[in-house]
Amino acid sequence: MKKLPLLLLIAAGFIINPAFSQTPVINLNIAQANKDVSPMLYGLMTEEINHSYDGGLYAELIRNRVFKDSKTEPEGWSLVKENASSEAVIKLIAAEEHVPNDERRNALNGALQACLRLTVEKADGRVGVANEGYWGIPVKPSTTYKASFYIKGTDRREPPRWPWEPKPTKPPLPVIENNTPGPITVSIESNDGKTVYAKGTINLEKSIYWKQYEVNLTTAADVKPTKEARFVISTDRVGVYYFNLVSLFPPTYKDQSNGFRPDLMQMLVDMKPKFLRFPGGNFLEGPKITDAFPWKETLGPIANRPGHNGSWGYRASDGMGLLEFLLWAENMGAEPVLGVYAGYSLDGDHIDAGPLLKPYVDDALDEIEYVIGDTSTYWGAKRARDGHPDPFKLQYVEIGNEDWFDRSNSYDGRFKQFREAIEAKYPNITCISTIPKTQYPAMSVKGKDADVVDEHYYRNSWDMWENASQYDSYDRNGPKIFVGEWATREGKPTTNLNAALGDAAWMTGMERNADLIIMSCYAPLLVNVSTDANGKRAWQWDSDLIGYDALNSYGSPSYYVQKLFSHYLGNKIVPATATNIPTQKAPLSKKDSAEGKAPKLVPTIFYSATMNDATGTIYLKIVNTTANKQAVKINLDGISTVAPEANLVMVKGDHPEETNSITDREKIIPVTETIKGIKKSFSPKLAPYSVNIFEIKTSK
Ligand code: AHR
Repeated sequence: MKKLPLLLLIAAGFIINPAFSQTPVINLNIAQANKDVSPMLYGLMTEEINHSYDGGLYAELIRNRVFKDSKTEPEGWSLVKENASSEAVIKLIAAEEHVPNDERRNALNGALQACLRLTVEKADGRVGVANEGYWGIPVKPSTTYKASFYIKGTDRREPPRWPWEPKPTKPPLPVIENNTPGPITVSIESNDGKTVYAKGTINLEKSIYWKQYEVNLTTAADVKPTKEARFVISTDRVGVYYFNLVSLFPPTYKDQSNGFRPDLMQMLVDMKPKFLRFPGGNFLEGPKITDAFPWKETLGPIANRPGHNGSWGYRASDGMGLLEFLLWAENMGAEPVLGVYAGYSLDGDHIDAGPLLKPYVDDALDEIEYVIGDTSTYWGAKRARDGHPDPFKLQYVEIGNEDWFDRSNSYDGRFKQFREAIEAKYPNITCISTIPKTQYPAMSVKGKDADVVDEHYYRNSWDMWENASQYDSYDRNGPKIFVGEWATREGKPTTNLNAALGDAAWMTGMERNADLIIMSCYAPLLVNVSTDANGKRAWQWDSDLIGYDALNSYGSPSYYVQKLFSHYLGNKIVPATATNIPTQKAPLSKKDSAEGKAPKLVPTIFYSATMNDATGTIYLKIVNTTANKQAVKINLDGISTVAPEANLVMVKGDHPEETNSITDREKIIPVTETIKGIKKSFSPKLAPYSVNIFEIKTSK
């Protein structure tokens, strides 16, 4: 009976080939560690997907705060009546409702034309509006939340009309007595309203004009954390109340205003990324040409930000605007890698190179000026007025995103027009092409090669293992490579251990070639893992790195692998060779099987090594993708001494499908051991399903 699993494995064709009986040997040639590891090898990529910002990293708690998420419903909002005998209704006054509906005069400004109207005919107890937040409002003990909103109370259901305007077709509604001035209550409370976690009051003035009110709400020390809560603004008086830009901020990372959720920002800072690629991804491009990331409209006070159609099925508030992206990078000690819109949208439309493209090129030049221009420039001065006089650092600008989707072949011309203009004004900036020649020779940039090309890979673990050494044979005379999006897509919504093993194998390949791969970043980075009462998910893309709901967050096994690879990295590539690496048969696709193809043999062990040449510390990474404990022999050549003890940091598990989740957040986390008996030649045993990082102290 005991032999059955082995027999089953053989029958399934997954058994490791006969080489497995010989111990694999990994030789590190430390004397030849001459090539530099790119100093920007590991970074982050981000875009508004999976509620990465709204309902994610951007700390705002109010969903649909400017009432533009839907044109028909006040999404996220509901009516609150303490007693059923109260008579009240809420109505969305949509931005699009213009003449003959004269509600348009309720626009707050040119950016925020929609609002919410609460009409109270009879108030029996409190009546108000509630916001459900992004799958709940997080309640935490001893926490102060900053609430603010624009409100006006009036005695009319409909605003006055100019004399020359046509009379409404419906008879005007009777005037309600103007009782609106006075206290308005603001609270964070349980969804049934029975438990109030924090409460405050503002004093609404009698005015037909918008006015912003602010109040702090503080929870008690003994409050039990929950996300089963809502935000309510309520009155006990009849009248007509209008609301706009309703905002609730919990404490933010380093108390930055309009800032970031601290737990998520800390997880990102902990990854020690060297750059942040933003704002996409598809989010840069937009569904239509008019939906491209409108960076100019994302600057300044949030009351001036209209938001825009996102690329992933929901509207973006643009609370996370260009400056916030830059501050995010700054918080992490990372440098921005700026994606500029290059005239191609997701619906397949494009703008040809030439005069029609010029406004887009000029817009990109303005954007770069905002990032790095000094304060004597127009956009540099604007950045200073926005609170950041110092220019940011910027070396790389990416021209578009995944332009191989543009079947018109217009990218060659578009790229060149952007590159010429950017290089003329900013000779120190390198433009990145989104079409790698290796993959799309016909579509890629003609003539003078791009200096850097962006390659994207979304694969399963088998494909990662099969291709982990693809860069070993890349042309060193071609463009440098930016692996600007990649992931092993296994596990939902965040990745599982097997995906982390695929990732780690792939990263060993990038590290061995870290002279060619100048930057790399996983995607997508963030995912809100909430599901609503109807089973609708907050996310659009499976297999993400960091998961969260309104209250908690966690890292996937892939997150920990990323973090460790970034932490334990030298500045020199140590040439590594191996013998006796076992292989296993990759499963055949139905098609390959039908065509009688032989299964591919894929290695089961992956490795890379780098060295810090100032300290002599070697970082040796070895991945064991199998269920077996695996002995390996390691030879350290070209050193004179090695410390007898080394650190071994591991991510490992018992089963490839094991994972972390919002309810079991630390099932798989790194563990560290000290291993003794390290010599120039030593033979550790790798745990099953493990990513292993040996930190070995040596001297030459
Ligand atoms: O990462 C998700 C999407 O994958 C990105 O928006 C796009 O660039 C790629 O196709």
